[in-house]
Amino acid sequence: DKGNHRHFMEKEIYEQPEVISHALAHYVDLGAHTVRTAVSDAIDFASLRGLTISACGTAYLAGLIGKYWFERYARLPVEIDVASEFRYREIPLSTDQAALFISQSGETADTLASLRYCHDAGLKTGAVVNVRESTIARESDAVFPILAGPEIGVASTKAFTCQLTVLASLAIAAGKARGLIHADEERQLVRQLTEMPRLMSGVLNSIEPQIEALSRELSKYKDVLYLGRGTSYPLALEGALKLKEISYIHAEGYAAGELKHGPIALIDENMPVIVIAPHDRFFEKTVSNMQEVAARGGKIIFITDERGAAASKLPTMATITLPNVAEIIAPMVFSLPIQLLAYHTAVFMGTDVDQPRNLAKSVTVE
Ligand code: F6R
Repeated sequence: DKGNHRHFMEKEIYEQPEVISHALAHYVDLGAHTVRTAVSDAIDFASLRGLTISACGTAYLAGLIGKYWFERYARLPVEIDVASEFRYREIPLSTDQAALFISQSGETADTLASLRYCHDAGLKTGAVVNVRESTIARESDAVFPILAGPEIGVASTKAFTCQLTVLASLAIAAGKARGLIHADEERQLVRQLTEMPRLMSGVLNSIEPQIEALSRELSKYKDVLYLGRGTSYPLALEGALKLKEISYIHAEGYAAGELKHGPIALIDENMPVIVIAPHDRFFEKTVSNMQEVAARGGKIIFITDERGAAASKLPTMATITLPNVAEIIAPMVFSLPIQLLAYHTAVFMGTDVDQPRNLAKSVTVE
């Protein structure tokens, strides 16, 4: 049932504040602002030398953001790869590593094969899944449900932000277990996570008219480039993936710093550049990349926060301004304009948004 939404994808985008609340209730104590010990104890983070993550598509991009968090908050080195490569790379693994597998369906063939590979190598395995009865969940030592509820739209939206919520909670748990996050920092980070549903509702209630108008423009182009730094880099990849899979517009995501190593050759007035840049410690650097785009006549769609919008004077095709949010929740909050932009562009293109051509919700063959 789509409720009063035109597509499941739209419904699932709007469900995010609610399902993230459910996920948070499972992983954190909302009164004490701590990560639940049942969660943090499922993997012995204190004794680990490294973490390895394997997944496909959007789930892989959630894992890539998770890598930034585990390394930053828990000083835990993370090796991550798409499951179709991971399973065949003959990676040397050791039992002082744990392995996480991220999958909405819990049935993706390559992710399952990666899990079996790690299991055979004697690693402790954990599944970050939506479907708890799935094969990946059954075969893992620990299961971390994302609690997103059924996701019907082929393009993943709420599963992505719930995966991120779970990974952020696990990274905090890991940082705590490894003696790097102390009680007051834990409380602060958890409090920031708990602010997410309210902030996301506010964004969903305010940005749709602007995004709809912008999507009408975007639907006229054939190529789009997404740029970001830090955790906004995987988000740039996710933005490009979401746009191409449902609107069929060619889109690519790049780390902003890679612009001058190739893609800058493509910049002209025919390829809008979507820059994802909250006002974080990378902001100035991303703005200088934006400058390079503007100097070559590129059209910029700037997705930033209030501080970022006030700090940049560059002319843009559009600036989407989100509230200033804590660094740890920025990837989830910034997912909203990215998802809505892809959604409305696809609606203007008249594609089958919930069932894009050639794609399946669950990829059980390699
Ligand atoms: C993109 C998308 C796919 C899936 C990928 C993995 O919107 O939905 O890229 O993320 O096929 O699927 P799961 O998470 O079920 O393993």
